[in-house]
Amino acid sequence: MNYKEAFDKLSSCQQEHVLKYYNELSDEAQKNLLSQIEKLDLSLLECLGQENVSEKRGNFKPLGAVTINEVKERYDEFSKAGIKAIRNGKVATVLLAGGQGTRLGFEHPKGMFNIGINKELYIFECLINNIKSTAERAGAWIPLYIMTSETNNAETVQFFEEHNYFGYNKDYVTFFVQDMAFAVDENGKIILEEKDKIFLSPNGNGGWFSSIAKAGLLEEIKNKGIEWINVFAVDNVLQQIADPAFIGSVICSECESGGKVVSKASPNEKVGVLCLENDKPSIVEYYEMTDDMIHRLEPDGSLSYRYGVILNYLFRTDKLEQIMNNKMPVHIVKKKVNCLDENGNTVNKEVFKFETLVLDMIHMHKSCLPYEVERNHEFAPVKNAEGVDSVDTARNLLIENGIEI
Ligand code: UD1
Repeated sequence: MNYKEAFDKLSSCQQEHVLKYYNELSDEAQKNLLSQIEKLDLSLLECLGQENVSEKRGNFKPLGAVTINEVKERYDEFSKAGIKAIRNGKVATVLLAGGQGTRLGFEHPKGMFNIGINKELYIFECLINNIKSTAERAGAWIPLYIMTSETNNAETVQFFEEHNYFGYNKDYVTFFVQDMAFAVDENGKIILEEKDKIFLSPNGNGGWFSSIAKAGLLEEIKNKGIEWINVFAVDNVLQQIADPAFIGSVICSECESGGKVVSKASPNEKVGVLCLENDKPSIVEYYEMTDDMIHRLEPDGSLSYRYGVILNYLFRTDKLEQIMNNKMPVHIVKKKVNCLDENGNTVNKEVFKFETLVLDMIHMHKSCLPYEVERNHEFAPVKNAEGVDSVDTARNLLIENGIEI
């Protein structure tokens, strides 16, 4: 793309300021900036000024789950079906590790955080230990695809190499990189990080499947005969990955997808809630729930919208392929970042990022099985440096589950 083409592209959306410092730049930096402009998806700007995703939602109704007691009763049947699927190579897993761990105040990929006290125990290591124990139970390695971002890919891959994949079979681990998106200021103007660099950040966890396809891995997944994909977050150190009973219960229920849920610890717990929206499964993020939804009670006194998702979903590959090209809702998320102000000085200020979210995929399915798990055994998120969902709470839960740390 040459200067004129870049200028035309930007000025069609009143974003010419991106070229403000062009004449000050070296030839190399000019070329670099033009190639960044070429890659910009300016259609994202159309989301600005529109209603928030949360404002155009439909009618919500609570959705019941397969409860912990029901799972206990049918545990053998579910586990057998899940183990069979794993053994037959029908299950793969995807670790979403493209996020930035800002809340934790840790400057590296979140999975590199050492949660150990008396010994080193990294978040990635906890996750690998969990998938390894299922692989041992099933007697088969389970393919693990790890989504990183341009910001953290090299460091993540190097970390796994240095730690010899924590004993997992490296042949079954594949990294792929998610897309990045620009951000805007309060006036809808694209943010620069430097005079020759547009500020970019990971575009949310919703693009994981299209990024798999972009990376050329979809053919491999189909050729291997993988029918189910278990997607999970990096931050839950008690995350059960490719859990046979969960997979088996979704298979037995004939639902198109499944989501692990916990009964919310309190009405205001910061988890998305799995429910029905216009009679289809749907997840409403905690910050999108109305007061009525947060506090509404059933006649027995329990919360009507009580099943919080722990970001562990099961999807069918064929269904994902069908919905892959559906337009996903774009969420506009505020975040403080280092960038240039109007005068070209580096400042730390609030910007607006564009993200798509994996939870919106659930609403594209006809059915989703909420599968209740015991929070003390399966939900130890490491989100904050201290307080709720912090390093300390996760450490206590690891100890409670007999894990040496
Ligand atoms: C997430 C869920 C929420 C759930 C909670 C449970 C989303 C959007 N929110 O909240 O419904 O109740 O976990 O703990 O799913 N990630 C990427 N790329 C990105 C952004 C994030 O890979 O661009 C990954 C992160 O590394 C992490 C996961 O997605 O593994 C979720 O991250 P985050 O956006 O921080 O969501 P939470 O607020 O933790």
